[in-house]
Amino acid sequence: MCGIVAYKGRQNASEIIVPSLKKLEYRGYDSWGIAVINENNIEYVKKSGRIEGEDIEINLGDANIGIGHTRWATHGSVTDENAHPHLSNDGNVAVVHNGIIENYKELKKFLETNDFKFVSETDSEIIPNLIEYYCKNVRFKTAVKRTLKRIKGNYSIVAIERETGIICASRRGSPLVLGIGEDATFVASDIPAFLDYTTNVVYLYDGDIVLIDEEISFFNLDENVEVKREIEKIEWDAEQAKKGNFKHYMLKEISEQVDSIERAITQDKELIEGFAKDIKKARNVFLVACGSSYHASLHGSYLLGKNTSINAIPVLASEFKNYINFIDQESLIIVISQSGETVDVLDAVKMAKEQKGKVLAIVNVQGSSLTREVEKYILMNAGPEIGVLSTKTYTSQLAILSLISYSVNNKYKKGLKALKALIKYVYALTSKNTREYLKKLSRNLRYVEHIYTIGRNLEYPTALESALKIKEVSYIHAEGFAGGELKHGTIALIEKGTPCIVFVPEKNNEEIISNMIEVKSRGAYIIGIGSKNIEEFDFFIKVRDAGELNSICQIIPIQILAYHLAVMKGHDPDKPRNLAKSVTVK
Ligand code: AGP
Ligand code: GLU
Repeated sequence: MCGIVAYKGRQNASEIIVPSLKKLEYRGYDSWGIAVINENNIEYVKKSGRIEGEDIEINLGDANIGIGHTRWATHGSVTDENAHPHLSNDGNVAVVHNGIIENYKELKKFLETNDFKFVSETDSEIIPNLIEYYCKNVRFKTAVKRTLKRIKGNYSIVAIERETGIICASRRGSPLVLGIGEDATFVASDIPAFLDYTTNVVYLYDGDIVLIDEEISFFNLDENVEVKREIEKIEWDAEQAKKGNFKHYMLKEISEQVDSIERAITQDKELIEGFAKDIKKARNVFLVACGSSYHASLHGSYLLGKNTSINAIPVLASEFKNYINFIDQESLIIVISQSGETVDVLDAVKMAKEQKGKVLAIVNVQGSSLTREVEKYILMNAGPEIGVLSTKTYTSQLAILSLISYSVNNKYKKGLKALKALIKYVYALTSKNTREYLKKLSRNLRYVEHIYTIGRNLEYPTALESALKIKEVSYIHAEGFAGGELKHGTIALIEKGTPCIVFVPEKNNEEIISNMIEVKSRGAYIIGIGSKNIEEFDFFIKVRDAGELNSICQIIPIQILAYHLAVMKGHDPDKPRNLAKSVTVK
């Protein structure tokens, strides 16, 4: 959802900001804009639609201070007028804003009674005008503080003042990070925006205000004091956040899974064993996440249930409020989130902590909000995942959960060995040959309207994740089921040629095979995924058997299939319609 970039340095601000906004496109947006301070004037361009072609060449004079925004409309339709930045009535302040101002109607009315006029339908436009209102009596920085104290809701905000060229940035529940380059300062929603220029970052905490003037200073609204924030060097490099020789980030990230799984299992042994110990000690355990990360949680729950005496309850973060009566100081809540910014996950963490639960996390983005809200966290180390779809980070989550499950049984070394052995399978699955082979299947499925995926036991989460992958990028309706569930209703939908993807383990596969035969006998087109071909399969995808680690391998062909379907149907797999990489609004 949306993005922010701000720049102050020696180079031309628009030449830096617009390409940097493009780097944030994976976050999803419907309009964009940029404002710069040029010869003591605020000049800006803003429009609905995507940043295309000649937009990149936009140049608003040789200004070296500016702010940019990609909007994900929440208040007001997608129009040029509603795009950001928004200016104050007196033209002295420009603001870009991510988030929702819950009390904007009250503040708008207050300002209108003070003769302020509004030109947009957005909630955001009250920010520059409230700052102007306060600037009548105090300086810009103080006016920003007073404004932020009055607005309610999650936000990341950057404001610039025309006369002083000061930049004020602040966050609460929505990501914002600083990049400190050679003679340049960046503020952005995510690191890839400035990764070409610096790997020195400063993570902001909720309530932080950063003032970028001759110096950079930090203030925290909640603590009401000046604070210090450290510069950290991140391990990512600009190449990692680029597509390389791949047409799309999604395919690049699918192809990176040999390395990303290797990195996922290369962890501090004590950290993993610490998680295992906390799991064993807890009175009850919850695995909490959204989307693909929830499917990983379900897998983790099955693994722990299968291998240990632990009942780890998988919970959708958006439904966590229904479990808070079971949370107390002896409860353990492990949240799983690639971005570490998913608002439902952050809300669940807050609820869990209010109930005195112990909260841990498995997360990919270092410095994300989640890493600052939990007691301990395991980093997926997958590197930046730019494609909207969760691919390499999903298998990283499965690998880490498998390692934890082995550790609960004091078998860390055995787990590490089993996971390392898996990597050669993954190598074959992400090879060019496999990708070409799966193109054939994509051609068979390109025009279908429905696809069903079924699996049992540890392959059930895989069936759910497969359906999500297919539908979110190809827009083909896909549904995942536990194999035994089909006959409780959905089998009514099976017609001649209905594609059914079936995940078949090497052992204990009798029941899923009989489920497959049930749909086959009603005309379904069976796509079998497993170690052995059987005559009922109409299309066979060989995935070597890895026992309880099967799910790490079996999802990869589906990721590739989903990718091919999207490309064949003319969609951009990196930016599926209506989706964002990180769901930071409810
Ligand atoms: C999956 O492909 C989607 N990108 C989405 O379901 C995602 O997994 C979900 O929004 C959770 O995101 P998170 O892991 O960053 O919290
Ligand atoms: N609520 C603001 C708007 O609708 C900001 C949305 C966003 O986060 O991009 O313009």
